[in-house]
Amino acid sequence: MTTSRLAILSDLHMDINQLDEVDLTVLADVLQESGVTHLHLAGDTANKVQKVLQTVAFIEQNGITVTFNFGNHEMPDVAGQIEDYPDRHFLNLDYQNLNDKLVLLAFNGWYDYSFSVEKDPVKNSATKNLYWYDRFIRREADDPTLNREILRKLKLVLDDLAQQQKEVIIATHFVPKKEFIVYQQKPYELWNSFNGFLGSEATGELFDQYSNLELVVFGHTHRRFPQQEINGTLYSCQPFGYYFEWQITRQFVMKNNLMPEFNPMKLRKILKDNQTEFTRYRRLHLKEEFRRALTLWDYPTNK
Ligand SMILES: [Fe+2]
Ligand SMILES: [Fe+2]
Repeated sequence: MTTSRLAILSDLHMDINQLDEVDLTVLADVLQESGVTHLHLAGDTANKVQKVLQTVAFIEQNGITVTFNFGNHEMPDVAGQIEDYPDRHFLNLDYQNLNDKLVLLAFNGWYDYSFSVEKDPVKNSATKNLYWYDRFIRREADDPTLNREILRKLKLVLDDLAQQQKEVIIATHFVPKKEFIVYQQKPYELWNSFNGFLGSEATGELFDQYSNLELVVFGHTHRRFPQQEINGTLYSCQPFGYYFEWQITRQFVMKNNLMPEFNPMKLRKILKDNQTEFTRYRRLHLKEEFRRALTLWDYPTNK
């Protein structure tokens, strides 16, 4: 009997973060040093699906099993194949056995505006089409309908797994629980209307109906939270996020006194003005950021 280790990572954003093969080698090193045997990428791995597949292939070369689901960022590039992309690493509304008892179930997920303070679906949809990245995604139904349909299919898989008495780890891109939604006060309350596109309360309510869910991992928020147990299931949200959101970036700015007081609005300009130093710093410290973004789970195998 040996111990295997699953790692789940979301929001790598290969292209927006301009991560190259040197950076991916750093990620592979972190995974190998941590004894990871299976990596699941829980969406927003890249804007271009080709880049996602290259990332998967690169990590796989290191003898690590890799699976993935999509986030909203891949979706404009895979219109028509969002739910059934034809690649053997793609895991959506389906599961893989980790051992005789434990499975990894992944699904892209979606949203239904339930986390928005605005309750009118027409207004939510208008806000999305004006401001949100997802306005570029072409789908066959409106958002609440799509989400209901996804949850209907998810329930069938969950019922089947409960019937088989399996323990389940779930990976998805979107937020299933209100505990991970931040509601801003004045003068930032405009951000609250975007909460509607972060996930769905009904997803978490569906999870609540099952006692065999060990762990649920998701991202999309670009904000990391402490892990939290809700109704007997552990929830983990620690997305990798954009380079200007990383902890090492904040350290770089503060250590070099580039801002008297940390101001995220001015950060990108400061990083641009100090690009050479920042590039050096991020190469040196990227390992730390990768480690913070990994959710790990050990399980016994017969290998
Ligand atoms: Fe993201
Ligand atoms: Fe996302």
